Amino acid sequence: MPDNHLDHLRESFSSLKIDGMIITHLPHVRLITGFSGSNALLAVTRRKSLLLTDSRYELQAHREVENARVLVVNDGDFPRMLKKRSWFSRCRTVGFDGDRTSYHMATVLRGTVKPARLKPLSRACDPLAERKDQAAIRAITKAAAIADRVFHRLLSVIAPGMTERQVAAEVSYFLRQEGADGDAFEPIVVSGPNSALVHGMPSNRRLRAGDAVLLDFGARYRGYHSDISRTVFMGKIKPTLRAMYDAVLEAQETAIAAVAPGVRARAIYDLAHDVLKRQGFAEYFKHGLGHGLGLEVHEFPRLSHDSPDTLDAGMVFTIEPGVYIPRIGGVRIEDDILVTAKGRRVLTKALKAPVVL
Ligand code: GLY
Ligand code: MN
Ligand code: MN
Repeated sequence: MPDNHLDHLRESFSSLKIDGMIITHLPHVRLITGFSGSNALLAVTRRKSLLLTDSRYELQAHREVENARVLVVNDGDFPRMLKKRSWFSRCRTVGFDGDRTSYHMATVLRGTVKPARLKPLSRACDPLAERKDQAAIRAITKAAAIADRVFHRLLSVIAPGMTERQVAAEVSYFLRQEGADGDAFEPIVVSGPNSALVHGMPSNRRLRAGDAVLLDFGARYRGYHSDISRTVFMGKIKPTLRAMYDAVLEAQETAIAAVAPGVRARAIYDLAHDVLKRQGFAEYFKHGLGHGLGLEVHEFPRLSHDSPDTLDAGMVFTIEPGVYIPRIGGVRIEDDILVTAKGRRVLTKALKAPVVL
């Protein structure tokens, strides 16, 4: 699998006007080489590739990496060791990730590649991550199925009197039990007025009748992630929350139904926004509609009102409209969608009818 990405990266060299590239963003190192450790620098030219890591990862790097030479050195020595490679020092223009590299690191890299020019690139490796291969699709599908099972198990444990933190602990425990390598991110469990906090952290607030409870969590599986949100209700659904729920669900399903290769990401956003506007809730929907999902929880494409992205087969992203009204609460419904040759496949399948617990 990784060979393919390395070839594609090299194919992009001419249009980027570079003859070498340094990759330090770990999800991209993993995507290209398969290396899953927490410290690495990958150097690529048209003919050679070298992965530098430290001694903690010696065995692991040799096991995981087939398409690059592995060199184990002290952390601080990456630039000096790279500079010594004569094949690398023949480069004239070396690209690096200008979106994610710190100023300090860029300064170090500039010294490393001298006299070659160091060229900042934007979204150079991201297109490789955007279109998933079969192994990635299998892993995300599995992560999504784990999240579905966790949601259904939660329905039989969430009860009045539990705190948000206690529910969040059950989320993490169930994720592991159902086969996840871990949480995709810190689970969000927010209830009652707290559910209006889009990305609030679980607190010691106890669930009680009339609350909306917004759950947002995901599984990590073989490095890939799922990301699901469901909103459930305690005891009864207040009329305003019910109207919010129906509007969010309609917005989400309308947007999902339009997903297909060739469609502009912002057109999908607009469809969801239009539904919420018609229902009078557009002013309470303030975040993007969704984001790519893969080795990172937030990738490209971005489904926002100003996104330049166009959907293509193999992309996986979330669709997650939400309405948040101060003091009343919030509703978000989020699923993970794969773009197929002809349309879409919804990977998360957990129940979306409103649930009262
Ligand atoms: N849980 C993070 C997100 O939905 O984007
Ligand atoms: Mn989420
Ligand atoms: Mn999300």
